[in-house]
Amino acid sequence: MRRKSVKFLPLIFTCLAVAATAQTVTLKVETGKTGVVQPTMWGIFFEDINFGADGGLYAELVKNRSFEFTQPMTGWTLKESSKFSMNSASGDLSIIKTSDPSSTNAHFARATLHSENSFTLTNEGFRGIGLKKDNAYTFSVMARQQAATPVKIQIELQDTTGHVLAQATIEPSGKEWKEYNTKLISSKTEANGRLAVKFIGKGVVDIDIVSLFPQDTWKNRPGGLRADLVQLLADMKPGFIRFPGGCIVEGFHLDTRYQWKKTIGDPKQRELMKNRWNDEFKHRPAPDYFQSFGLGFYEYFQLAEDIGASPLPILSCGMACQFNSAELVPIDELDPYVQDALDLIEFANGSTQTTWGKIREQMGHPGSFNLKMIGVGNEQWGPQYIERYKIFAEAIRSKYPDIKLVSGTGPFPEGELFDYAAKELKTLKADLVDEHYYQKPEWFFKNAGRYDNYDRSSYKIFAGEFAAQSVATVSPENKNTWLCALSEAAFMTGLERNGDVVYMASYAPLFAHTQGWQWTPDLIWFDNLSAYGTPNYYVQKLFSTNKGTNLASVTLDGKAVEGQQNLFASATWDNNTSEVIIKIVNAAETPTQTDIQLDTKRKYSPTVKGTMLANSDPNSVNSIEKPKNVSPIDYTVQMKGSKLLLILPPQSLVVLRFKGKV
Ligand code: AHR
Repeated sequence: MRRKSVKFLPLIFTCLAVAATAQTVTLKVETGKTGVVQPTMWGIFFEDINFGADGGLYAELVKNRSFEFTQPMTGWTLKESSKFSMNSASGDLSIIKTSDPSSTNAHFARATLHSENSFTLTNEGFRGIGLKKDNAYTFSVMARQQAATPVKIQIELQDTTGHVLAQATIEPSGKEWKEYNTKLISSKTEANGRLAVKFIGKGVVDIDIVSLFPQDTWKNRPGGLRADLVQLLADMKPGFIRFPGGCIVEGFHLDTRYQWKKTIGDPKQRELMKNRWNDEFKHRPAPDYFQSFGLGFYEYFQLAEDIGASPLPILSCGMACQFNSAELVPIDELDPYVQDALDLIEFANGSTQTTWGKIREQMGHPGSFNLKMIGVGNEQWGPQYIERYKIFAEAIRSKYPDIKLVSGTGPFPEGELFDYAAKELKTLKADLVDEHYYQKPEWFFKNAGRYDNYDRSSYKIFAGEFAAQSVATVSPENKNTWLCALSEAAFMTGLERNGDVVYMASYAPLFAHTQGWQWTPDLIWFDNLSAYGTPNYYVQKLFSTNKGTNLASVTLDGKAVEGQQNLFASATWDNNTSEVIIKIVNAAETPTQTDIQLDTKRKYSPTVKGTMLANSDPNSVNSIEKPKNVSPIDYTVQMKGSKLLLILPPQSLVVLRFKGKV
């Protein structure tokens, strides 16, 4: 974060000049209210959409490493040499499918060279392979020889023109499958690199699970996650992480739903599946989008633990996506789905003496993952959902009464489907109910008071998926503009002010590959070399890292600040740091002079820490080239007694921290 003294901030300087003439708005802050800010309040929503997992967070650089895509050569290209042509007397490369019905990895590649020769197989990666100068990469492959004379394998990292950036050779031996590894160091940074696998000699060699990982992964875990992307998440200090989605939980059909049990164990043996976002949108087809599940449920729990977030898995409730096939599991066949939920709780929390706790231990985590909540279905609606939810709730509550259940009101934040689910879930004494809002910025400004009059005798709210849409929901023209982010900030002051009823909130979706996305807007964008947070990311981060522990209030003329004079505000108290934290959104196109008056319960240090996120152009965005175009600026200002006179820049979010003197 940039840090500046207030006198160097041109924007605030300009504003100070205005101050003499502008009308002053008085904001009064009261601490000592009852009610806490939930530690889970601000979290993250993860889904494997936009190449968020494979090609994104999961750092594997080889696409279709096991030749299991529907078209087994997807991502791979054969290069014949002048002396070698395929399907001729020279030899060939074939994809072989074994018939073992229990195999999760039935295909492998066989290179046959009839005489001393060579040919090359290249992998294009996920829209290229990102390579960084002097960084080390681990290549690994399963291989076996099938003829009397061995075939050597030369590995190359190449730039976009085929120039070699690193090279190594492996010499597989024997007829049994064995894993071979080698390290490669790239001599150049290349965003669009590729991996070349060159077969040299005379003979027959089989290969499978051809893999390339950067050694610089999160916590340097071999086969781990992209460090820069996890760092962006960790920097948010999220209260929870929801996974694995989203619609991906539900599947287009029931048999393509997300099944957590298929995503644990040896990552290389996890059964691959077509990603549901592969062909969801005709306007953004992604025929090469599959799920390898290298990032599976064990890794999700591990990630949650690493970044200090409470895990929130969401499971299929026996309903395929109602926007797609809407297939339903008959009620009398729902047991395996319910059992999956019970087993997942055991996998996360059970002792190592239990069946699933033992598997967790075998994977390297004997201790509990401290699971406290679980979601039943993603974005379901109608009586069919309520009927199924009841069965899950009964089973989970009777075996695990301390686990909180997350249910949902469907895809829309109002209307018939919403009203029906809300009424039923209240009757069922639901714990946490997931509401989704993909709306225009105006909706977010207008709905900042949405929870002020919510029924306090009903369930708690999980604002599970929200994002302001600059054009329209699902429009490929949507951008992560500053105006969108500002409107979300205004709405979030309302969530925070109602922290007694809103327990959790997350922006969605989280990640998008700049060349491989299907859905926009998204919180964090990345290419094969770098990543950036959108203005929306900085809003989320500012709220999350300035959460506080207890509710406080900020009022304008005795009323909650939810749009009067274009201002939106919320306040909390932090017991750990003895600070009052105020967040103010000025949605006006002009600066606003405020007189912030704190209650006199305690004395305050005269130096107030401020952070400002602002931009004079509501359409401004961040990008790979200008990642910090809209980003926070830290500064300090001086207050007198318990009052602070402050000019709020136009279209700004300002966070202030007032230190209470002990
Ligand atoms: O966030 C993208 C999609 O929006 C999610 O998968 C789904 O839950 C919602 O419709």
